[in-house]
Amino acid sequence: KYDGLALTPPMGWNSWNKFACNVDEKLIKEMADALVSSGMKDAGYTYINIDDCWHGERDAQGFIHPNKDRFPSGMKALADYVHSKGLKLGIYSDAGSQTCGGRPGSRGYEFQDAQQYASWGIDYLKYDWCNTEGLKAEGAYKTMTAALQKAGRPVVLSICEWGNDTPWIWGQTVGHLWRTTGDIYNCFDCIEDHGTWKSFGVMAILDKQEGLRQYAGPGHWNDPDMLEVGNGMPANEDRAHFTMWSMLAAPLITGNDLRKMSKETADILINREVLAVNQDKLGVQGFKYASKDSVETWLKPLEGGKWAVTFLNRSRKPQTVGFDWKTTPVTDDLSKQELNAAKTTYKVRNLWTKKDAGTTKKAFAATVPAHDVVMLLLTK
Ligand code: DGJ
Repeated sequence: KYDGLALTPPMGWNSWNKFACNVDEKLIKEMADALVSSGMKDAGYTYINIDDCWHGERDAQGFIHPNKDRFPSGMKALADYVHSKGLKLGIYSDAGSQTCGGRPGSRGYEFQDAQQYASWGIDYLKYDWCNTEGLKAEGAYKTMTAALQKAGRPVVLSICEWGNDTPWIWGQTVGHLWRTTGDIYNCFDCIEDHGTWKSFGVMAILDKQEGLRQYAGPGHWNDPDMLEVGNGMPANEDRAHFTMWSMLAAPLITGNDLRKMSKETADILINREVLAVNQDKLGVQGFKYASKDSVETWLKPLEGGKWAVTFLNRSRKPQTVGFDWKTTPVTDDLSKQELNAAKTTYKVRNLWTKKDAGTTKKAFAATVPAHDVVMLLLTK
């Protein structure tokens, strides 16, 4: 959307991946505290997003209220708390009659709900797609867009209909990001079949982003779902996951317990040079340039003629990777930006070892462990 929100991919935390329906105000406050004390806020993480199951009942006038036992101080007080930390608060609803967790949905109450969220001081709405029989996605989401506009508070709208109805085609005037797939789970390379729906490991989600990059840009992002970093995968897989989401210009909504993260997890989530690739002002989604022996080479054009280059080893054994820069120029059709090492000598920096790695005068070679990456920044 062209309202000045989400000009770079949104960054923050959401309760679902780790806590599912176990949300309450104590948890949310502690996460806000942890986002600050961990240094994540300083690195750019801003949103604290409550997912499904915060709801209580609608009152006699139809206004929704949070569950009294879980949120005894109310949502306004919670938003005030989050705002006092310099952060923003997100909430969750569903376009249908009920949320996926069986709580009251917004269908038929869109304008009242938007008004209520505005009165609480909500800054971000994730809008889900369960129990939507008879609804068309584009229209249903547009109703909520109109409701939020009417309520008058700037709100980032996260469209969550799992890519069913090509939201990348219509999403950019409706919301700021749209899910492109079903739910992620913390497995690097698997797909889980639940009968009526599937959940996807990190690589399966990555593969589903193919062909979508032309729809993303400042204010409107493809959303390959929230991060599983720190939720159980080994550090190499978490690093590969985080790197690829950065290359994709994906929203970086963490989903781990920020109160007790390992140093390894924090070092991944707060690598500022990797974050700068994700948050680059051009807002161009990266692309797969080459693929050989389970090693993929990804490129992302950045502001000022810079490039991010990632080698992703999808295999279960170490692989030698490399780039003979002399084979350039590579021109990105979308941004028209050219990577041309014959014309320009780029400085090369390894963003995970945080070491300079010479220039493009010399071909690059390295060994990448299984399920891991080497990520480079090329600067003129
Ligand atoms: C489905 C969404 O895709 C998930 O991210 C999460 O919001 C759940 N619904 C909540 O019920």
